Amino acid sequence: MNKWWQDRVIYQIYPRSFCDSNGDGIGDIPGIISKLDYLKELGVGAIWLSPVYTSPNYDFGYDVADYTAINPEYGTMADMKRLLKEAGRRDLKVIMDLVMNHTSDQHGWFQAARDPKSGYRDYYIWRKPKLSKSGKEKPPNNWTSFFTGSAWTRDDRSGEYYLHLFTKHQPDLNFHNPKVIEEIKKVMRFWLDLGVAGFRCDVINLIYKQSLANGKHQLIATGSEHYTSTTGCHAVLQQFNQEVWQPYDAFIIGEIQNGTINSVRDFVEHNELTVGLAFEHMILKLGYAPQKTKRALVKWQRGLDWNPVFFENHDGMRSVSRFGNDKKFHQQSATMLASLLLTLRGTPFIYQGQEIGMTNAPFANITQVKDIVSRSAYKLLRKFFIPSPIAFKLVMYLCRDHARTPMQWNNQAKAGFTTGEPWLMVNPNYQKINVEHEKAEGTSIWNFYHRLIKLRSQTPAWRQGKIKFLSTPKNILAFERIGESGQYRIVVNLDSNKRKAGINLAGQVVSSNYSQSNYDHLRHLRPYEAIIFKINS
Ligand code: GLC
Ligand code: CA
Repeated sequence: MNKWWQDRVIYQIYPRSFCDSNGDGIGDIPGIISKLDYLKELGVGAIWLSPVYTSPNYDFGYDVADYTAINPEYGTMADMKRLLKEAGRRDLKVIMDLVMNHTSDQHGWFQAARDPKSGYRDYYIWRKPKLSKSGKEKPPNNWTSFFTGSAWTRDDRSGEYYLHLFTKHQPDLNFHNPKVIEEIKKVMRFWLDLGVAGFRCDVINLIYKQSLANGKHQLIATGSEHYTSTTGCHAVLQQFNQEVWQPYDAFIIGEIQNGTINSVRDFVEHNELTVGLAFEHMILKLGYAPQKTKRALVKWQRGLDWNPVFFENHDGMRSVSRFGNDKKFHQQSATMLASLLLTLRGTPFIYQGQEIGMTNAPFANITQVKDIVSRSAYKLLRKFFIPSPIAFKLVMYLCRDHARTPMQWNNQAKAGFTTGEPWLMVNPNYQKINVEHEKAEGTSIWNFYHRLIKLRSQTPAWRQGKIKFLSTPKNILAFERIGESGQYRIVVNLDSNKRKAGINLAGQVVSSNYSQSNYDHLRHLRPYEAIIFKINS
């Protein structure tokens, strides 16, 4: 029998940008509660909340100052309990984001740890500076952060350096210290006791630093060979699994940085994570190459029995802008992606706004951008005298704010997200792209998602069925889902040009993203065309 996370579609909410209930321009938990009926209507079965914990927001919640308190901007613990109750009433599971690799530098543990004599000192990773030949202080090793610059910052209080793989406001916890492991177990039990169904564990494969030796130079994250998917990490996760996750039957999805099929399989098969979240098909490229996407998707689908299936999250571009064409083929490319999302084997994840085809934002300059990664990359490029328009253009390729502009609910002021001034610019295309309009339009992206989510829930072959890939010309992706009660053939054109299908297009059409539906004599697929056939055997 399938587990709940194999049957349900998971919807990721970025709370800051979802729905603002009190007009301060910041999305909040009461706002989420007011949209639970909407999510239910869409057909999703679980929500994953990006962090709602207290945070000074250097990395908008991924810098946690208190793991068991709610960020007052988002509401109160009472609101959170109400959210869990209201979600439960609607049979929606709730998954919390859990960032355990690091805390905020505002966390009480770190504040205490700054004192070398404190019992909390060892919660973090401190080292004395290295001295250069001339006697100048240097960081303890050559590691660099994922967010540019050294991975070490000197704290004046002790004159020692602490490690941070992300910003200097996100000091890494020390998982060599059993006390840290116990603290995290406590945090997890706290939330599981409140009724959450599991966790999305942020950069989980980086938590255990096997050594602090110098690393080989890389563009970012020099040193990563010393802390990526280490045996120490596996040991910690096994402990979590035995003592916390299994007893609560929790769903654990772990974000795996630089994941390979083998490394993800290790985390899943050794009874650690339920599923691993790796990114090969999302990796930054300037431009989009359909055949590369196809290759990556097929490789991971073949390599692992069960994958999370996703094209979007809070860390990158909007999928219709990246894999599709958000101007000429907005509707077609967004629905093509929906067709893949709901028929590939695995758990589908929808990121807020994807269901209406929200697009990248037309930011005009860096002052409109709040994302720390974009801002630091911009600074770095400017430091190397890259002219500002070019630096800005480059940064736009990795800008995480594309996915973070406010959710577009209707065509009223501020897209119905807030009555105040939104914390991040609303995409001006909200007049056309918004939930209200999308729901009313019969052939809309929203209605396509709605229909396909429902079909997935009614079609065991799409959930449990085996998957078999067919050999096709390079920009066409085709596969079959084969279950006891039926066999389906999914054929998709990943390209913006008309392409030869190269395989038999026959059977009963159960879904198509173009209106014409007689495929018997059709040998070509139109731009981003996606058809699902039921094969009558
Ligand atoms: C993960 C998150 C990202 C965050 C980083 C550091 O990659 O998805 O948003 O900035 O970890 O916590
Ligand atoms: Ca608010």
